[in-house]
Formats: sequence, structure tokens, C-alpha cells
Amino acid sequence: MPPERSFDRGSSGASRRTFVKATSAMAIGTGANSAVVGAGESKTDADPETRDDIERRLESMTVRQKVGQMTQVALGEAGEGFDPDDPFETHDEPETVGALFTDLHVGSILNGGASGPTFDGEEFVAGLNGLQRYAIEQTEHGVPFLWGGDALHGNGLLDGCTSFPQRLNMGATRDIDLVEAAAVQTGSEIAAMGGHWNFGPTVDILRDMRWGRYFEGHSEDPMLLGKLARARARGFERSGRVAATVKHFAGYGTPNTGSDRAHARTSMRDLRTRQLPAYERALEEAKTVMVNSGAVNGKPAHVSEWVLTTVLRERYGFDGVIVSDWDDFLRLLTNHEYRPNTDDGWRWAVKEGITAGVDMHMCGGEVSPAEFIETAVDLVESGEVPEDRIDESVRRILELKRELGLFEQPLVREDRIGSLVGGARDVSAKLAKESLVLLRNEDDVLPLEGTERVLLTGPGVEDGTPNQFLMQHGGWTLGWQGVEDGDLTEDGPRPRQTTVEGAMKERLGDRLTHVPTEFEAAPYESIYENFDNGFFDVTDAQERAIREAASATDAVVVVLGEGPHNEGFGDRDKMRFPAAQRELVALVDAATGDDVSLIGVVLAGSPRGTAETFDRLDGVLFAGQPGSDAGVAIADTLFGDYNPSGRLPFTWEANVGHVPQCYDDYPPRQSVDAGAQTVQFEFGHGLSYTDWAYTGLSLSASTIKNPASNPTITARVTVENTGERAGEHIVEVYNTESYGSVLQPHRRLLGFDRVHVAAGESKTVAVELDLSTLEVVPGDVPGWKPTVVEAGEYELSVGEETATLTIEKTASITDPKPAPGRNGSAGGRCDD
Ligand code: NOJ
Repeated sequence: MPPERSFDRGSSGASRRTFVKATSAMAIGTGANSAVVGAGESKTDADPETRDDIERRLESMTVRQKVGQMTQVALGEAGEGFDPDDPFETHDEPETVGALFTDLHVGSILNGGASGPTFDGEEFVAGLNGLQRYAIEQTEHGVPFLWGGDALHGNGLLDGCTSFPQRLNMGATRDIDLVEAAAVQTGSEIAAMGGHWNFGPTVDILRDMRWGRYFEGHSEDPMLLGKLARARARGFERSGRVAATVKHFAGYGTPNTGSDRAHARTSMRDLRTRQLPAYERALEEAKTVMVNSGAVNGKPAHVSEWVLTTVLRERYGFDGVIVSDWDDFLRLLTNHEYRPNTDDGWRWAVKEGITAGVDMHMCGGEVSPAEFIETAVDLVESGEVPEDRIDESVRRILELKRELGLFEQPLVREDRIGSLVGGARDVSAKLAKESLVLLRNEDDVLPLEGTERVLLTGPGVEDGTPNQFLMQHGGWTLGWQGVEDGDLTEDGPRPRQTTVEGAMKERLGDRLTHVPTEFEAAPYESIYENFDNGFFDVTDAQERAIREAASATDAVVVVLGEGPHNEGFGDRDKMRFPAAQRELVALVDAATGDDVSLIGVVLAGSPRGTAETFDRLDGVLFAGQPGSDAGVAIADTLFGDYNPSGRLPFTWEANVGHVPQCYDDYPPRQSVDAGAQTVQFEFGHGLSYTDWAYTGLSLSASTIKNPASNPTITARVTVENTGERAGEHIVEVYNTESYGSVLQPHRRLLGFDRVHVAAGESKTVAVELDLSTLEVVPGDVPGWKPTVVEAGEYELSVGEETATLTIEKTASITDPKPAPGRNGSAGGRCDD
């Protein structure tokens, strides 16, 4: 075995010039429109940076300075703040944060995991401004850095933030405009913080509830996912000052057995028709891409020229910045075992990654920036990586800085962030309400209006508990795992929030009895230590209190679910609730008579729960992780002030042994006649307090000669609210039957719309249908041919209403050219 990689940090040739102490840099008070003071090459509004300026900068930079621009460094360990004099403890070199710029010419820094060096907005701006000023004043080229972070469901980096519903909830709303409005707020906050880069949206398709990042994925449907992700990218970038990131390109959402960062379970056909299209849609609005940490078809994405260059650059025409994920050149060795973890292996990883197309390497904690820079410089000097290739990347990075206006205005006002944090309350509350999915409502037990006494029990429901952040927010909320630094804190920081208990108390006063049960978040507990994403228990005293309250109540609301978690630490092997929760439901069931309504509220970032528990409950509301406005959204829904309208954005299997099953699988989707034994709730399931009926489905064109020139049609259908309560309803149009030269998915969503209809009234809804969702890859097993909509008849359905769409000519809408790489060096010739 070759020796373990041992990088001689002392041998770095980085120019360690003495830098001026930045005492003045930290005492800034930047005016709104001031250009940077004293910055060698920085610009004013009247003198904007041009493309020619970028070329001139590039020409004057040394290889080392260029590679520095390609380096992104994570701050975030203790002591690594925004003061240039702060010690930089994670790596041996450089010694201070400021030296990252003066010595290493680093182009970007990040605070990963939604936790910056401070949770206070104004301190954050002042610190970042100070560091930016330092970087500009003290470096030869005065190029401002890009700051990036993870504001993934709201700007969860600051105390008092609005935590918007998680991505899974967003998928349940099907409300593209509202989701975009939330993203606009997030982008504005990042900009006001002095940041420039938000590492979202996540565009990884959902398939497997065992994956610890399931809560991030929006949906298992590619079209819905693509539309939401595109809207979110557009929203993040609305301020003109922030770049969005399409991540994790491509195929990260289907890791084998749901294990984070494992190789993708996919095929060329699956990749091209079910996975890539969502990324492609989102790319229309995003300036950057982050790479999949896993492997696709046996090739790690970070070294796949096919993924990063042939598909992303050449086919999709993406010309923005491609950033690696966290330490991922190193993880090629340590995670994928693609090469030995030696100096040579590391050198190979850097070379292949840059050659494949990565523009910037994210140095997390294990790779020091000097280590990456030295290796890359050496590769250029030895001729193994052409300098032109480096220039391409640096040009993109500088161009991104130019587009974001960093050369003209590197600093931001310190007084703006305060008024933004915690804002967009209406958007947040509406999104939270729209995202709740009523799974079960036996004998119309819900809403609970008129109910006298209610017992509320279960974990994660208490106001003021130190177990921040309860179960309602999930990961990326004031900490990577949804709990700051993995610690439980009495005093916060906390997001702005209403809780289930608080909102019910406000409504019921003394008529509410609350018996919280034990819950402790379990951040950083992997599947091997804790399968439940939290520690749950019911003490003897709690059990006694529950029994007592249950004997004198009209309804019991039990909160169930899982605690916040993230990435590999969130991976799990269970769908059923933890034992303590199952026992809790059995307990309230046994302790109450038939006339007492038992309601379950599931707070989880995945389909958590099986019939074993649900069958004991009369009503079940899947609340997901609704964020700041969870309390008010849940209480309004349980008590009938809001009529639930969310629809599941995923398939909820009957138990973990049936994972993964998707609604758009090829037939046979499940063993014939298996039905409810394998799927508990279908994609699109979601009950209402009123009844809905459809009539008169018609199509704007029932025959399409050539789908390439007519890629959309409109379906019209009348929706009648036949019940007694006004409500919102999501109309969904599916392709339910079709035949072609290859298997057709069981069902495919073609379009949807959300409509509000008063009781007893009707509305005719026009739903735009995207015919590219009917594309398949024809031909035999290799799956290289262009994707096409095949000629034939397609049954379209809205509920029981059906219409037939006839396609006369086989044609491609999204893929008119030969399949990427088919005849090129990356793919080799394959005539299929
Ligand atoms: C690793 C995660 O995979 C990625 O999604 C995130 O943006 C980066 N860390 C930065 O925190």
C-alpha cells in the first residue's frame, strides 16, 4: 500500500508578504452608495467594470493568483470570524482569515451549514464589510471576494429569521408564485447581509425516504421539481446581487439505498428523462452550479467530463461558475476510493476535477486552501493542466463578480438587514398553510371546530423549550443540523416562530391540556447510532398525566415525527414512528372512548409513519416541516379556519421495505393486486374539508401534428365545490395511459393549477400542459437516442375525467440534437 497522503504544508510557496493590520478596516460605516474607499482597482458606479477590464485583470494575474480565485474556503470553526486578524484554525496555513486573501488570493469564502460567525444581522454585515474592505485594500489586485452560504428555506443564518416551509412542503403547495416570493425575500436578505451567493435551489429528485436529505428535494416529479427550482433560482437572484446555485448536478437525489453521497441508482434513460430535465429548467435562472458528491453510472460526478462539460456546458449552454461540493476532490479518494489516498491520488483528483470542468474548489475542513492551490499551480507549471483551462474558470469567476456589481459596490449598508430579518410573514404563513396535507379524515372528524376540551401531547410541541428548533424547522436552520452547533440552547438563537402549543393555547385557553413528551434533537447521530432522527420517550409521570387528561377530553392531538437532521447524519432505515411515539398513540387510543377524536399531526421531513399508527387515528395531518408559521398554520387547519389543500409531492410507501416506489415508475409499478399493501398514500393524495367534482375536460388541441413546434396545449376543466365550505384546490392533469416503443411511466404529471372556489360554486380552470413531460428515450437498452414524444394516443385525466391527445409525428421538444456525447469522445459511438 502506498503511504497515506502527507501534504507538507510548510513547503507552500505562497507569497507570505507582510500585510498591514486591518484595524481601520473593522471600523467602517459604509454609506449606501459609496464605492470602496482606497481599493486599488475597484470601481465607482460611474465607471463600471467591463468585460475588457476582466480580460486585463486576467492577463495581469499570476498562475497562483488565478488559482486563488478558484479557491473557496469555509469559515466557521471557532475563532474563524470575519475579522482579518482572527486565527484561521482549521488549517495550518494561512494563520489568519485576512491572510487567505493577502497570501493565498482566495476568491471566495463560505459559511456552510446556515451558521455564520454571528447570528446577529448587523454584526454580520459589519464583519463581512470589514473583511471585504481588507481583502480589497490589502491585496495587489483588489478583487473582492464572493461570500456564499446556505439560506435554503429562508435566511436561516440569523436570529429571528423567517424559516419558510422546507422544500418538501413547498412541493406540496404546487404554488410556484408563492414559492418564488419566499425566495425573493431570502435573496434580499442575503444581499442585505453583504452576501453574494446562495447555494440553492436543490434540484435533486426525490426517490428514497431513507435519504437524510429527503426534506430538501421538493418532489419526486421532475416537472414539478423543475418548475419550483426555476422559480426559486429566479427569486434568489432577483436583487441582482446574489447568485443562485443549481445543485447537486446531477443525480445526487437517488443515492443507492438512500445513503448520502453513495453512487446514484439510475440508468441513462432514467437520467435523461426523469433527472436531468429538472436541472435543465432551473439552469435557466441560475448563475452557478454545484456538483453531485456521488457517482453516476460508476463515474464520480466531480471528474465526469460528460456530466460537467458535455451535458452542462455543451448541451445546456451553461456558462456560469461550477463549484465543487465540500472537500469533494479529497472525497474522491476518501469516500469513493477512486484512487489511493496518497499525494499522487490527490494530485490526480485535482487534475481530473479541473479538467472535467470544475471552476472552483470548496475547501471545507479537511483540505487546506494552500494544499489545493499548491497542487493546482504545480499541475499548470508541469503542463498537465493547460493555463487556458485555468483562465476559463477564472474568467467565469471574475465575470460573476462583475455581474453582481462587486467591483462597483463591494460593501453594503449596515442598517438594512435589521428591517428584513423575520419578514415576509404573510408569504410564510400562507405557504405553511398551503403545504399541509390532510392524509386521513375518518367520518369527517376534522375540523375540530366546536370541540370543547383538547389534550395536546407528543414531542416537539412546547413553546419556549430549549430543544430548539423543535421539529418544525428541519435542517439548515441556524445550524447545519437545524440546531446550532448541535447544542440545545435555552436562549436561542431562534427563528421567529409560532408553535403548535402556542397557537392552540391562544385559541382554546384553559380548554387545552398540554402534556409534552420527551424529545431531544439528535444532530450528528448517524443511522448507526440512532435510527429515529431524535431521542423520544414518555416518562411514567407523563404517561400518568396523559391518562388523566385523556379521561376528560373530547379530542386528542398527538404530534409525531422526527427531529431536525441533515445529510448523512439524517440517513435512516425506518419509516414507522419511533417506539415511544407508537406507544404514545396506543396509550391515548386505549385511554379514550370511541367518542373522543384522535388526531395525529406529523412533523417530519419525510414520509414518516405507517398504518400501524395511522389506523389508530381518526385524522392525520402531514405537516412536514412548515417552519416559522407552523403553529398558526396547523391550528388554523385543525380548527377549520383554513381548509387543507396540499397534495403529497411524493409516494408514501406502506413500509420501508417497499421503498423506493414512485408514481411514475414503469409498469408493473408493484406486484399485481398488491395495491395498498405497498403504497399507503399516492403521489398527489390530499384531502379537503369540502368535496370536489370535475366536469367537461377538453383540450385546446386534441391532435398535435408535430410536438416540436407545438410543445404546449391547454386543458380546460370545470371544478365544482360540491361541499359546504370554501376552499382551495389543486387541479392536476396526468397522462394515465399511452404506448410506445419503450415502456411508458405508470402516470405522468403534465400540468397543475391552484384555484379557490366558494362552496357550491364552479370555476373553469385552464391548465397549461407541457408536452415535453411525455418524452421518452426510444431504442434499445443503451438509451442514447434523442428524447422524443412518440406518435400515438395519450390518455389525459383529471380525476375520473379523461380526454385523448393524439400525437401524429414522433419529434423531440427538448433534445433535437443527437444525445449528448453520443458521437463525441466522451460517449463514444453507439448506434443503439
Ligand atoms: C455540503 C452540502 O452538500 C451542500 O449542499 C452545501 O451547500 C455545502 N455543504 C456548503 O454548506
